[in-house]
Amino acid sequence: MAFKVNIFICLAYFVVVCYANGDTEWWKHAQLYQIYPRSYMDSNGDGIGDIKGIINKLDHLADIGADAVWLSPVFVSPMKDFGYDISNFFEIAKEYGTMDDMKLLVTEAKKLGIRILLDFVPNHTSDQCEWFIKSVNEEEGFENFYVWHPGKPNPDPTNPKNLPPSNWISVFRNSAWTWHPDRQEYYLHQFLPEQPDLNYREPAVREMMQRVLRFWLDIEVDGFRVDAIPHLVEADVDDDGHYPDEPKSDLTEDEDDYSYLSHVHTREREETWTNIFEWRKTMDEYSYFKDTKVIFMEASSEMSIVMKYYGNATHEGAHFPFNFDLVNVRAGVKANQLKTLIDTYMSSVPEDRVPNWVAGNHDQPRMASRVGPELADGIMMMTMLLPGAAVTYQGEEIGMLDQSLSFEDTQDPQACKDGPDMYNLTSRDPQRTPFQWDNTPNAGFSTNSTTWLPIADNYETLNLLAQKAAPRSTYKLYKGLSQLRRSDVVKYGDLKVEALDADVLAFSRFHEDEGTVIVLINTGDTIKSVTDLHLKFDNLGESLQVLVPCVNSEWDSGDMMLLNEIMLKPYESLVFKNSVGLLTTSIITLLIGVSITVFNLFFIDV
Ligand code: GLC
Repeated sequence: MAFKVNIFICLAYFVVVCYANGDTEWWKHAQLYQIYPRSYMDSNGDGIGDIKGIINKLDHLADIGADAVWLSPVFVSPMKDFGYDISNFFEIAKEYGTMDDMKLLVTEAKKLGIRILLDFVPNHTSDQCEWFIKSVNEEEGFENFYVWHPGKPNPDPTNPKNLPPSNWISVFRNSAWTWHPDRQEYYLHQFLPEQPDLNYREPAVREMMQRVLRFWLDIEVDGFRVDAIPHLVEADVDDDGHYPDEPKSDLTEDEDDYSYLSHVHTREREETWTNIFEWRKTMDEYSYFKDTKVIFMEASSEMSIVMKYYGNATHEGAHFPFNFDLVNVRAGVKANQLKTLIDTYMSSVPEDRVPNWVAGNHDQPRMASRVGPELADGIMMMTMLLPGAAVTYQGEEIGMLDQSLSFEDTQDPQACKDGPDMYNLTSRDPQRTPFQWDNTPNAGFSTNSTTWLPIADNYETLNLLAQKAAPRSTYKLYKGLSQLRRSDVVKYGDLKVEALDADVLAFSRFHEDEGTVIVLINTGDTIKSVTDLHLKFDNLGESLQVLVPCVNSEWDSGDMMLLNEIMLKPYESLVFKNSVGLLTTSIITLLIGVSITVFNLFFIDV
């Protein structure tokens, strides 16, 4: 009996020690920041951003309150898709620096309380990757590393080349199958032909990708953003050795466009979840005695599918799949659309799982260009003050805008493929131009005469230095929101969302000890008077205190506003705090103080 009790105590001690030694919660309210390294800061004057550049700018990340940073890929790559075509998963690309630079980045960032996450690209490699070259040559152990197929017999007897194995289309247009003359077979690629898909039915592939995760966890990175996860596994061949065709979607008549087909055989197959569960186990294994190591998924799909990434009752999946709802918001959005967007998402997130809000990324137009610079302030308030984690793409904290570029300056392979007449429709370069640090040549990004993508035209007026000096700026708004995120009301408070009319969205966060924070966003181009806030939200009192005004507001932080006299200018957004909450907190604090004094007087001294 005594032995059993001892064992139990030892186990309990072990569990407590495991958790006491690491921060298990950090990611649940994290302010996550995405760096596109090529465009962040160039330290060696070659016109391309690099890891040392990030180290030199760590103070900026600390200043804006980033808890963690995820880096788009920095691994060895022919850069056909700017790092999303990796040829060596275990080495840093020379143009970004060295392994020592990466280790230094991890250490220096940690000193500032910032965690570094890397981009894990499991779906495909570069065609220059040693594994692909070995697979082409059918070297032992690599024969089935990729998805190979001889193709369908060609009905044209004069053409010796078989037809593609199925009608599948690549995300970047045209057939997802490319003929390899050396192996005399087709290989699958969901993206560029230079990005062949790995074959997850091959155990050696799964082992290799586990090695990749462990390799980077061993140098103390804190987790990964997982790239293009919906595409990880496709349907297998049937009993006759044929891949099934996908049905037409009716979304477009353009037969080469990815949306021409309905992707019932090439997205989110059952095996995808199994792989995620395996990666999650590795994260958990590395989390003992340490801060939680995380995996966040790039999963842009319909809501019910996105939720599956969290895992289920028996298996832990991603810490969270990114929520791209706000990335899809465009100018002209109405208050009830935003309400539906928030309510639908919040009610879909399974209990005890962590919600999150992504404001932008390197694949999507910038927020200020999507909704206009004024409404962007309101959308940033949503990103930062709704429950859960908040994800900012570099430059959004100063409201950078998309820069339109000539076809000659265009680098994005997706756009280059589309040619000079169409490139503008698909190019992701406008949101990838270098960070605008100041008004010196090249916006302080590089000392080179040219940069890999041109600097945006507006850098002399729109830059971090100018925004720090200005009395009001997007940077100052962002910092205000970042500070507010540290409060319990934003971390743990209840959420209520109301569309007050067609244009005005209101949401509140309520916490017993800290009162209510209210956010008002006018999505419309007319002045709005808000008179019925007290009917929609409880305990607001007579007046509200402005905490964070949008850049164009006439209100300042600290101003008091009578509840029945709130006017919002076109596109104005404001964050308030209720005075009742402040009063209640003060009274409670006072009462606690009095009780302690009374207790001391009557009991301790006796
Ligand atoms: C992801 C990346 C994108 C890349 C694609 C292929 O969607 O975000 O930039 O082109 O994967 O790797």
